[in-house]
Amino acid sequence: MEEKEISIRRVNINDFDKLTELSEKCFPGDEVPLIIKSLIDIEHFYVIENHLLDKIIGFVIFGIFSIKTAHLMILAVHPEYQRKGYGSALLEKTIETVKLSPIKLIRLEVKTTNLPAIKFYEKYGFKIATTIKNYYEDNSDAFLMLKQI
Ligand SMILES: CC(C)(COP(=O)(O)OP(=O)(O)OC[C@H]1O[C@@H](n2cnc3c(N)ncnc32)[C@H](O)[C@@H]1OP(=O)(O)O)[C@@H](O)C(=O)NCCC(=O)NCCS
Repeated sequence: MEEKEISIRRVNINDFDKLTELSEKCFPGDEVPLIIKSLIDIEHFYVIENHLLDKIIGFVIFGIFSIKTAHLMILAVHPEYQRKGYGSALLEKTIETVKLSPIKLIRLEVKTTNLPAIKFYEKYGFKIATTIKNYYEDNSDAFLMLKQI
């Protein structure tokens, strides 16, 4: 991935058809494609684009809803472009943005069965804090992961 080929920018309403398609690929059978449009007003909703491919490759949504903690809600990369550093670029954007605030903790929830994502977050210093039973709509469990910054 050449750095000049890619950029991260805030989402806009014109992105949503592409984002719905992308999130259906990233989260098959999940509620995510249905809820992302309702999150457009969240300040920290960014897409990563590859300009040579003229494509949105992934997105991240996080919120700073309290004075103590940032909440990483969704981070996803198109399955055909995973393991190429796009997810890292989105996570680094998240961490750098949170570092500009007084907040010292990032939290996220991830399905206990989602090993690729758990490995990914662990690489960036997130640690499993606890298990949250029946966290998801389908009653599956989540790990709460935390990173001090
Ligand atoms: C998790 C996810 C965002 C990672 O994105 P990505 O662009 O593939 O990540 P990167 O290429 O930046 O990977 C960075 C590191 O994370 C780890 N990692 C990523 N995917 C992994 C996998 N499938 N297995 C093991 N480790 C993995 C590796 O250490 C990797 O470094 P390496 O490729 O040099 O070994 C991506 O797999 C994804 O979109 N999954 C579906 C959606 C999802 O589950 N999101 C998380 C919950 S909201």
